[in-house]
Parts: sequence; C-alpha cells; structure tokens
Amino acid sequence: MSVRLEVLPPGEWGETVGARLAGRIAARPGIRLCLPTGNTPVPAYAAFAAGGGRLADAEVFLLDEFDLPAGHPARCDQMLQRDLLDRLGEAPGRLHRFDTAAGSLDDECARYAGLVESGGLDLTLLGLGANGHLGLNEPGSTADDPCRVVALEPETVAHAAGYGGDTVPERGLTLGLREILASREIWLLVTGPHKAGILQRTLHGPVGPEVPASFLRGHPDVTVLVDEDAAPRPD
Ligand code: PGA
Repeated sequence: MSVRLEVLPPGEWGETVGARLAGRIAARPGIRLCLPTGNTPVPAYAAFAAGGGRLADAEVFLLDEFDLPAGHPARCDQMLQRDLLDRLGEAPGRLHRFDTAAGSLDDECARYAGLVESGGLDLTLLGLGANGHLGLNEPGSTADDPCRVVALEPETVAHAAGYGGDTVPERGLTLGLREILASREIWLLVTGPHKAGILQRTLHGPVGPEVPASFLRGHPDVTVLVDEDAAPRPD
C-alpha cells in the first residue's frame, strides 16, 4: 500500500501540518496547490499563518464549493478566506475557485477541470467526510468521476449547516476523484474520534464507491496526517 500514516498528538497536529505545508510551498515556488475547507484544516491553517507561511508564490485551487449565494458563510470560498487568507499578510499568487453564479454550472465545472488539468496539481490536501467522501465526491462516486455538480447526501447537508448561515446547500461543485487522484502528492487530513471509524474503513475496508476515500489506496503518494484521536487502533 502506498499510503503512509503519520500519527500525531492532537495538541501538535495543527503546528506540524501547518509547518510542513509552509516548508513544502517555500521549497517549490509556483506550486499548484489544492486546498480543502471545513473544520479539519482550521488548526493547520492557523499555525501556517502564525508561523509566517506564505502563499504569494503558490497557485491555489479550492477543492470544492457549495451552491450557495455569494458571501454565504458556509461557502468554501468564505471559509478559506476566514480560516486562512485573512490571517496572511499577502494574497496568494493566484487563487482559483468555482463561480456558482455562472450561467451553467456544468460549463463552470468543465472550465475548472480545464484549469486544473492544464498543469495538474502538485499537492492536494483533503479532509475526510464522515461518510467517506473526498471533496464532495459522495458515496457512489468512482475513481474516474470528473469535476462536476453533485447532489449532496443528507449527512453532508446537515454537516454544512454547522458551517454557518440560515440556509443549507442541496448541491455542490467538486473536483472529481479523477482530478484529485491525478495530483502528484496527496495529504489526507483526519482529526477527532468521530473520524476513527471512517478512517479505518478508508484504509482497511474494501476499495470502492461505498467509501470514496478508499480509492486513495491506489495512488502512489498519499500521506495520512492523523491525530491520535482518529488513528486506527492496533488489533
Ligand atoms: P470537516 O469536513 O473537516 O468539517 O469534518 C470534512 C469533509 O466533510 O470533507
């Protein structure tokens, strides 16, 4: 298996991931970097910013987006702004995100996929959905699914309600597993006891659409950065 597991104490997880990200970006000017939002990366982004991490030499792609009105607090672009960009002294060199106000969301996904595929992704960070999704590739997704508009599972809708705002999304736009798995390197970020079960299934259950994250096991360079609370228990 080409998945490396790094288990970190919960109190050190954010600092370790943030510092490693800063180092990786500094070492590769022009890096094409895909970033997730949600609760998981928040401590890492805070540590990245506090440690002087810079995105000025990076080209950043947001992993996914909810179909919510501009400025809605649960939108991924708003979370990225709050949790990372507002904490930095300077803007990213380039920032790409989904335009959900575009006339056709299908055309918007095709545009976004084209941008990603034009140079590929050097490093993609991912959170792990409680239902095993990556980005918004919900259960039922296959390794070949492209960037597209998706209907959200009730569990994902309920989770998105916790990100803020009075309305919830019913659908989203996401890089597909096709573009994600084409990334040269992937870091899967997993924290908290509520993620232990799904991480176990991701790493040791059957590979297939029931747990989309399980497809990571076919990728040549995946690191799971997990805190002790979510780490698989030895049998
Ligand atoms: P979370 O979401 O980081 O808020 O737990 C992860 C995900 O659903 O992909």
